[in-house]
Parts: sequence; C-alpha cells; structure tokens
Amino acid sequence: MAPFTLAHLSDFHAGSPYFVPNLMDRAVVEVNELRPDVVAVTGDLTNEGFKQEYVVAKEYLERLECPHVLVIPGNHDSRNVGYVHFEHLFGPRSVVLHTGDISIVGVDSTEPDLDYGTIGRSRYGWLEEQFAVPARFRIFMLHHHLLPIPGTGRERNMVYDAGDTLEVLQRCNVNLVLSGHKHVPHAWHFENMFVVNAGTVCTLRLRGDTRPCYNIVTIDDDFVRIERKYPFHGTETIIEFSPSTLHYQKFVGRPEERRLDT
Ligand SMILES: [Fe+2]
Ligand SMILES: [Fe+2]
Repeated sequence: MAPFTLAHLSDFHAGSPYFVPNLMDRAVVEVNELRPDVVAVTGDLTNEGFKQEYVVAKEYLERLECPHVLVIPGNHDSRNVGYVHFEHLFGPRSVVLHTGDISIVGVDSTEPDLDYGTIGRSRYGWLEEQFAVPARFRIFMLHHHLLPIPGTGRERNMVYDAGDTLEVLQRCNVNLVLSGHKHVPHAWHFENMFVVNAGTVCTLRLRGDTRPCYNIVTIDDDFVRIERKYPFHGTETIIEFSPSTLHYQKFVGRPEERRLDT
C-alpha cells in the first residue's frame, strides 16, 4: 500500500504585518507537488479574526489540490467574533475524517477573545465516539499546546484541561497529536502518543532562531516519519517512530548542531 502523506500547515496570520505572501505562495506550490492525502491546518489563519483576513487565507487554501483539507481555528481566529466568518467560509469548527484506515479528528480549542485554550469535559465523550471507528492510526488536531514546548517563552496558554485531555486521547489510542500556536516546531514522545507542533508557515512572527516552516507526516505500515519543510529551502527529519513498538529517533537542536535522541 502506498504511504499515507499529510501536510501540516499552521499559523498563517493573514493580515499581520509579519505575513509574507511569497512564503505562503511557495508553500502552496510545494504542497501541490507533494500531492498529500490530507492537508491539516491547525488555526491562526488570521491575525485578528477579521473577515477580509479570512478571505485572504481561504484564497490560499482553495489553491490546494488535495481531496481533504481539514481546517480548525486558532485563538487569533476567535478574536472579534471571527468564528462567525470561520463557520461561514470553512464550515464546522470541528473536523472528522476517516479515510482508508486512518482517523483524524480536530477540535476548536479556542475561547472568544481569549488566548488560552480548552477542550472541555463536554467533548470527551464525543472524542471517544469519533475515535471508536476501527483504524490503524489515529490523529488528533488542535491549535493550542497540549504539552509545554521548549523555546516558547512563558507557557501561559496551553489548554486548561491538558491533563484530562491527554488521558482521554490515551484512552482513544491516539497515535499522533498535531498542534500549532506559538510557532515553535517541536516533537514529544508521551506514553503511547507523539505530540508534534508545527511552526508558522508564512510569517516572521518567530521566536528565537526558528524559521517559517511546515510539517510533512508520512505513515507507511509500521513506520512514521515527520519532517519539517522550509518554504524555498530544504527538509529535515524531526522524528521517526514505530506506532507498534514506540521505538523512535528524534532529531533535536539547531540545524547546525542537530543531534539524535532515541
Ligand atoms: Fe499563531
Ligand atoms: Fe495561536
């Protein structure tokens, strides 16, 4: 069977003075050349939730030649009642996709006009129902961090119910969590899951030495590789793992001083 490929893009921040159209253009071209099975977009499409910003973000997403483009909002999208425009332009703020033997569920972790996130007890049962469908690999998408991420400054707006959510996801046998938010790409191994953050694909809202990038997830039988792609530039592997044995290799550090953690 051909490998399953997912492009994970996040944090466009259309409308921000730090938004670089050239980077977004290039990312769209690269993703179309990759021909992934799914494109996952984990929020902050806009900078302030304004309608005109949403229109710009949607124009880029419409250029993606992919059968499944899954989009959830971020905290910036929920500013100024921006979730109304999200629903109008993209539909429900939660997404569910069962394709082949892969399940992907994404939720809106935002609260109007607030930067913190929450999943909420009322959705735990719903998550368990969605992930009850038989699958060989399960992916959960949210905007906010579910685990602290180094190099992000003060960790002040992880989801408030991160502990309970992690327990629910473990119970659901989720293999991979995809998130965005603070624009710092990173990967954690946490019990049976891997929790992988994407950077900002097309802005200069950057922390430290990070650069605009997006992630490419390749799932092939019992082997998963997650790479970071820099628009116009190269690719580096972030982490490789076996979903059954949980053996993994993680590449950390700045590009010039990368080392292998296993
Ligand atoms: Fe962001
Ligand atoms: Fe955010």
